Amino acid sequence: MSQIPDENELKKEVSSFYNQIGWQMQDDGFYQNARYEDLRPVSREYIHKCHLRVKKVLQSRGKFLLDAGSGPVQYPEYLTYSEEYQYRVCLDISIKALEEARHRLHEKGLYVVADVANLPFKTNTFEGLVSLHTLHHIPPQQYLQAYQGFVRVLKPGCSGAVVNAWTSPALMDRWSWMVRFMDRVNGLLGRINGRKVVETKTPPAKKTVIVQPTGTYTQHITPDWLKSQLNGKVNYEILVWRSASVRFLRAVIQPWLAGRFWLQLLYRNEENDPHFFGENGQYPLIVIRK
Ligand SMILES: C[S@@+](CC[C@H](N)C(=O)[O-])C[C@H]1O[C@@H](n2cnc3c(N)ncnc32)[C@H](O)[C@@H]1O
Repeated sequence: MSQIPDENELKKEVSSFYNQIGWQMQDDGFYQNARYEDLRPVSREYIHKCHLRVKKVLQSRGKFLLDAGSGPVQYPEYLTYSEEYQYRVCLDISIKALEEARHRLHEKGLYVVADVANLPFKTNTFEGLVSLHTLHHIPPQQYLQAYQGFVRVLKPGCSGAVVNAWTSPALMDRWSWMVRFMDRVNGLLGRINGRKVVETKTPPAKKTVIVQPTGTYTQHITPDWLKSQLNGKVNYEILVWRSASVRFLRAVIQPWLAGRFWLQLLYRNEENDPHFFGENGQYPLIVIRK
């Protein structure tokens, strides 16, 4: 039997996961998918500034911005990327994602159900492109095809931004002792204060009569592997989007430990050396240029 998953089956599974689970609104007013983010006030400023890094590498205005794997355009910062574009073209394999995106973009949005690795657009169409937290849902053997597709549909002189997590990034591995240590401190403090233990890991899904899966197919990659695929074929640069993982933030960054201050320091360091933090932190910002 082949070890490579059937690509069509896999994409059907991802699509049905997002239709039925990922883009369902929860009681707290966030999508189920947002449980993979740190939504606490202490991390808000850092995460906000990281979101805005995407805008800085894009051409500020144009007719069409492509959002490849748009989801519902769930965070307010995402709307700023297309502020000065006439249309934002949202492409996704989940129809539910696009229905939700329409609530936010209204007539500014154009909506296409399609696969990021097979873009149904003419060459040289878009002045800007983003693909955020999406490529980890396609099999790695389709990465080059996806990146080449992004370049193909961009207009000459324009750029796009791809954000995705690395697998086992060096900095997060190096700082994993802090996560383990703080897990214990947070647990201890919770017990001393007689309050609920601070949640640092991704919480399990609420039990319902039918137990739903909480995730779908994902496959992360390393910087070396990406370079081996793209070098000489795609004009790209690896910068930092955000070097701290959600797991790290939830465990180590606490309001009572000057969490905001440490994140301001981290952000400043990331700005000073975006290439180092891009390759060694959790999430790179991969800028493609045509
Ligand atoms: C983790 S969500 C990210 C959504 C959004 N970009 C964000 O950052 O909030 C991944 C999105 O990619 C879509 N997706 C996954 N595989 C895809 C594919 N092969 N083609 C198009 N969209 C895909 C999913 O349906 C989902 O909406």
